[in-house]
Amino acid sequence: MPQEMLEQEAMRVLQTNDREGFTVPTAGLYPFQWLWDAGFTALGWMKFDENRAWREFELLFQGQWANGMLPHIIFHKPESSYFPGPNRWGTHHTPPTSGITQPPVIASFVHRMLERAKDRSLAEEKARALYPKILAYHRWFKYQRDPDNRGLMNTFHPWETGADNSPAWDEALAQVEIDPTLPPYTRRDTSHVDPSQRPHQSEYDRYLTLLEIYKRADYDQIRLHKECPFRIASLLVDCVLHRANCDLLRLSHYFGAGDEAEITAWIKSSQMGIENLWDEEMGLYLNHDLIQDKPIRVGVSASFLPLYAGICSRQRAKRLVQTLESWGQQVRYLVPSTDPTHPKYEPQRYWRGPVWAVVNRLIAWGLADYGFIKNAERIRQDTYKLFEVSGFSEYYHPSTGAGLGGGSFSWTAAMLLAWE
Ligand code: GLC
Repeated sequence: MPQEMLEQEAMRVLQTNDREGFTVPTAGLYPFQWLWDAGFTALGWMKFDENRAWREFELLFQGQWANGMLPHIIFHKPESSYFPGPNRWGTHHTPPTSGITQPPVIASFVHRMLERAKDRSLAEEKARALYPKILAYHRWFKYQRDPDNRGLMNTFHPWETGADNSPAWDEALAQVEIDPTLPPYTRRDTSHVDPSQRPHQSEYDRYLTLLEIYKRADYDQIRLHKECPFRIASLLVDCVLHRANCDLLRLSHYFGAGDEAEITAWIKSSQMGIENLWDEEMGLYLNHDLIQDKPIRVGVSASFLPLYAGICSRQRAKRLVQTLESWGQQVRYLVPSTDPTHPKYEPQRYWRGPVWAVVNRLIAWGLADYGFIKNAERIRQDTYKLFEVSGFSEYYHPSTGAGLGGGSFSWTAAMLLAWE
């Protein structure tokens, strides 16, 4: 399909999924506003409607809590096609929200949008107003999720990593005992998508058990450090936050906000924290179980994100690229969400194998920053081919290229528009 037609189609997806200022990831399966989806989607809107792009963030921050936390779902309008909805989360916010967060891409994308905006004065006005809210969000991360200043955030739920059912979480999640008093529920996801492409029931029971634990702790983060039976350091959260802090620092300079010393200290700390996740034998960075204090030895697409964070040495970056190239010999389309030689690799099941366009975009940025232009270009070409062959799906089979999960997916369409 010619580029122009693909672009038209991508814009149509965003317009169809627009709900007066926020964009649903896809109708039915995900009928609300999601945090990191909103970030990627705004990059897509930016290509043809800058005002609408900034609006996405204004609506997102309507969900921000008084303590600075930015929730992963904002339930702007009631909808029954998704579970767990606002009642199950039991948070007390208007508009209703979930009670956990997601990879904090916002600072980086606001900075990017500000740099590239055609309408500069609009961009300055919007970014200036967003700056203190983003700062409050990052402060919440640092002081509530890394109280020991280890340089790694405590992530309390697989959903917070954005990569819900990655095999990287299996062992840690298995330690969560399913609550025998768990109130009954009906999953909605499997009525929209074939169950073979979604998480297992035993995982869902644990996801919901964690919710009950948060409610009992009244969402008190410091209590959760003691009471939450799932605590991991996730490369998706930590690398995205590291780069977001670097971009927040740039915004602070730009607006003369004077927060540089505080933000620089966070950056130094996460630089060390993430470097410690390197595994020489596997040639990869690894997620880390913070309860057991041990590395999670499963290669995942996020293992390449220290390139995006910009923290790895030249030597480690080269080694990462070799690992990526070896994955590229196993599959037709990079980057599978799980190492394709790992026994837990499942090419059609959500985060256990399929390719996700947004993670590809982050990895390609990292590769290009380090000068690995050929590798970044392979990822771009693979991703474009997937758009051409299978449209804007939620995720894709790394060998056949089949579109999987939900269709007409906002952040996927946005990546066609925003991949320059
Ligand atoms: C799924 C994904 C998550 C995404 C959400 C909405 O839960 O795992 O990363 O934000 O869907 O698209």
